Amino acid sequence: MTDTAPRPLSRPLAVVVLAAGQGTRMRSRTAKVLHPIAGLPMIAHVLATARALGPARLAVVVRHERDAVADAVAAAAPEALVVDQDEVPGTGRAVEQALTALAGFDGDLLVLNGDVPLLDVPTLEPLLAAGAAAEAVVLSARMADPTGYGRIVRDAEGDLDRIVEHRDATDAERRIDEINAGVYLFRTAGLGDALAALDAANDQGERYLTDVIAVLKRAGRRVAAVVAADPEVTAGVNDRAQLAAVQRRVNDAIVLRWQRAGVTVQDPATTWIDATVQLAEDVEIRPGTQLQGATVVERDAVIGPDTTLLHCEVGEGARVNRVDATLAVIGAGAEVGPWSYLRPGTELGAASRIGAFVETKNAVVGAGSKVPHLSYLGDAEVGERSNLGAGTITANYDGVEKHRTRVGSEVRIGSHTVLVAPVTIGDGAYTGAGAVVRKDVPAGSLAVTVAPQRNIEGWVDSHRPGTDAAVTAVPRRGAPGEDAERQ
Ligand code: UD1
Ligand code: MG
Repeated sequence: MTDTAPRPLSRPLAVVVLAAGQGTRMRSRTAKVLHPIAGLPMIAHVLATARALGPARLAVVVRHERDAVADAVAAAAPEALVVDQDEVPGTGRAVEQALTALAGFDGDLLVLNGDVPLLDVPTLEPLLAAGAAAEAVVLSARMADPTGYGRIVRDAEGDLDRIVEHRDATDAERRIDEINAGVYLFRTAGLGDALAALDAANDQGERYLTDVIAVLKRAGRRVAAVVAADPEVTAGVNDRAQLAAVQRRVNDAIVLRWQRAGVTVQDPATTWIDATVQLAEDVEIRPGTQLQGATVVERDAVIGPDTTLLHCEVGEGARVNRVDATLAVIGAGAEVGPWSYLRPGTELGAASRIGAFVETKNAVVGAGSKVPHLSYLGDAEVGERSNLGAGTITANYDGVEKHRTRVGSEVRIGSHTVLVAPVTIGDGAYTGAGAVVRKDVPAGSLAVTVAPQRNIEGWVDSHRPGTDAAVTAVPRRGAPGEDAERQ
């Protein structure tokens, strides 16, 4: 086998992915093959491996949650043929219907279970090579705990004899640690007859693909099992515990890949990176960080701790600390956090600053502008080098519609200002602390809306006589006895 030829066979190859099952053991409303692994549906991982082989034909058998699964297939492998399985259950029936749908295809048929997402090309290569000498080849693996898997039963010569499902196996068969990985290579010639011969005489009353091995063997065909070098890549996902184990393994591989590409990951155990994320060299990721979807992080940015970014762009050298952000663009050198919430449509300019307990949505903040404390910025745009004081709020919702707030450049918004949209604050303008701004503020003006302060001397003594406040206030007003008390 050479490195360059993934498939040393001369016959054309078709790949069939089985994804019609209900996934009962997941106990989920979502089809099993749609549960996400590193941000992609399980079936997308299987399809990526299938496509890497460059097959002449690719088909996916669907039934349970048919439309949702078909959509995921179209997204991951638009060229794939979607085959609907009828009401007859079983993996054997699924392959039979795929074979019919691939009408006229003559060659090798690689069958993959849609719930074996770690399977990779290097594991498939020996299986494909073995197809030169056998009509049917099964991928097997030796498992420390084979519970639940079909077992590989070998004859006295050690050759593959048949596969028995766990639930149909005897105690002796259950002690076999070689399992069926759910990956098979068949020659199409004669396969249809073998599939047609399957019965449903088993615990589940299904037409099992696994039984086709015994059928072929009885017909004098050559069948073989190839043992996977790495049993872990053959793990099937049938329940949530197996799903979590597979998610962990995929994540470990992604983290390692980015570490090798120059990314510092302080704590791989608490760092989760989707397969779709892009990171530059010298990015630093601190513990408790999740980078999801189409997130892209540029050089020298520091992300985390405790940060979740979904579909975000983070510019060079930005610092994003304890942030929850979706569909946000964070400019180069910007500082965000701790405890900031960036919602879709947030665009933070270079060297801008968003601080603690600040929420933004559909908000464009210009270069060098700051929203440092306790603010809500919604449907707003802020120019460059402006400062929004602590507690600034854009009141963007009038109860029926949302309106925009426009703040110019070099603006100083006083603390606890409410900007009642629609409203525009001109360049270089100021607002006084506590202002409720309902009208536009021209450039260079100061807007004040709070009544001037008036101090009513002695009010506490006359209105709250005898209270702790009154008693405490008395000496400070230089009342009789003050000097005596101080002695
Ligand atoms: C199957 C194998 C078992 C093997 C294991 C490996 C059979 C009978 N058993 O068991 O020997 O050790 O995989 O993980 O094949 N599917 C259909 N149509 C159906 C039923 C299932 O397309 O009617 C699909 C499922 O969506 C799934 C795959 O086939 O992707 C396997 O089905 P599943 O029920 O998970 O079989 P296992 O019990 O895991
Ligand atoms: Mg399974």
